[in-house]
Amino acid sequence: MNSIRPVLTGHKTLITGIANEHSIAYGCAKAFRTAGAELAITWLNDKARAYVEPLGKALDAPIMAPLDVAVPGELEALFDRIRGRWGRLDSLVHAIAFAPKADLQGGLIDCSAEGFKTAMDISCHSFIRMAKLAAPLMKDGGTMFAMTYYGSSRVVPNYNVMGPVKAALEASCRYLAYELGTKGIRVHAISPGPVKTRAASALKDFDLMLNEAAHKAPLGELVDIEDVGFACAYLATDFARRITGGTVYVDGGTNIVA
Ligand SMILES: NC(=O)c1ccc[n+]([C@@H]2O[C@H](COP(=O)([O-])OP(=O)(O)OC[C@H]3O[C@@H](n4cnc5c(N)ncnc54)[C@H](O)[C@@H]3O)[C@@H](O)[C@H]2O)c1
Repeated sequence: MNSIRPVLTGHKTLITGIANEHSIAYGCAKAFRTAGAELAITWLNDKARAYVEPLGKALDAPIMAPLDVAVPGELEALFDRIRGRWGRLDSLVHAIAFAPKADLQGGLIDCSAEGFKTAMDISCHSFIRMAKLAAPLMKDGGTMFAMTYYGSSRVVPNYNVMGPVKAALEASCRYLAYELGTKGIRVHAISPGPVKTRAASALKDFDLMLNEAAHKAPLGELVDIEDVGFACAYLATDFARRITGGTVYVDGGTNIVA
C-alpha cells in the first residue's frame, strides 16, 4: 500500500477507538495518514494512554487527547481542542463499542436493562453526540464513519446484545446522513469482517467466527485493519462524493454468501 498517493493532504481527521496496534481504529489512522491526512487521536484513560500515545506520535498526530464517551464533558473538551487547533474537521471515525461482559456473554433474553442501556449509549448514542459536535466544524462538508458488524441484520451466534445495538447504529447512520446531507456531510456505517482485536476477544467462540468468515469469503482471505482503513480513506475523498447513508461491507464478500 506504500504506492498510495497523498490524496488527503490537508485533510483533518479525528480517529477514536485506538486501544492498541491491533485496533481497527489504528488501521484507519495509518491509512488516513498514508493518504496524507493530519490526525487527532484519542485514548480511553491513563492506562490506555501508554499504548496509544506512542502510536499517535509515530503518525505525527498533532492532537492527542483522552476520550471516555461515558464521562460528561470529555467529548466537548476534545472538540474544543480540535476547534482551537484546526478550526475545522473533514472526517471522523467512531470505532468505539462496549457492553458489560455478563450482558454480552449471555443471550439477548438475559441482557439486563442497565447493560442494554450502557451498550447502546457507548456504542451507538455516542456516535450521535459526536456527529452533533463535529457537524459545525465540517464547514466544507465532511465524512463520518461508524463501525458496525453483520450481526446487526442477521443472527450471528454469540453476538447477542451487540446485534440490536449495531442495528440501531446503522439506522442512526441513515438518519444522520439524511439530516446532514444538505451540509455536504456524508455518513457511513462500515461493516468489517471479523478481525482479532481486544473487543472481539470478549465475544464467546470468536475464533469460530474467524474460521467461518475465512472459509466463506469469496476473496478467500480475512480482512485486516488496514483494509478497513483504506476503504474509509477512499470514502473520505471526493471520488466518493455521491455515496452516503449505507452500510459498506469490508469483509472480502462474506456477507453475500448464505
Ligand atoms: N473486531 C471485529 O471483528 C469487528 C468487526 C466489526 C465491527 N467491529 C467494531 O469495530 C469497532 C472497534 O473495535 P475493535 O474490534 O477495533 O476493538 P478494540 O478493542 O481495539 O477497540 C474498541 C475501542 O472502544 C473503546 N471504548 C470502549 N468504551 C469506550 C468509552 N466509554 N469511551 C471511549 N472509547 C471506548 C476502547 O477503548 C477501544 O479503543 C467497534 O465498534 C467494534 O464493534 C469490530
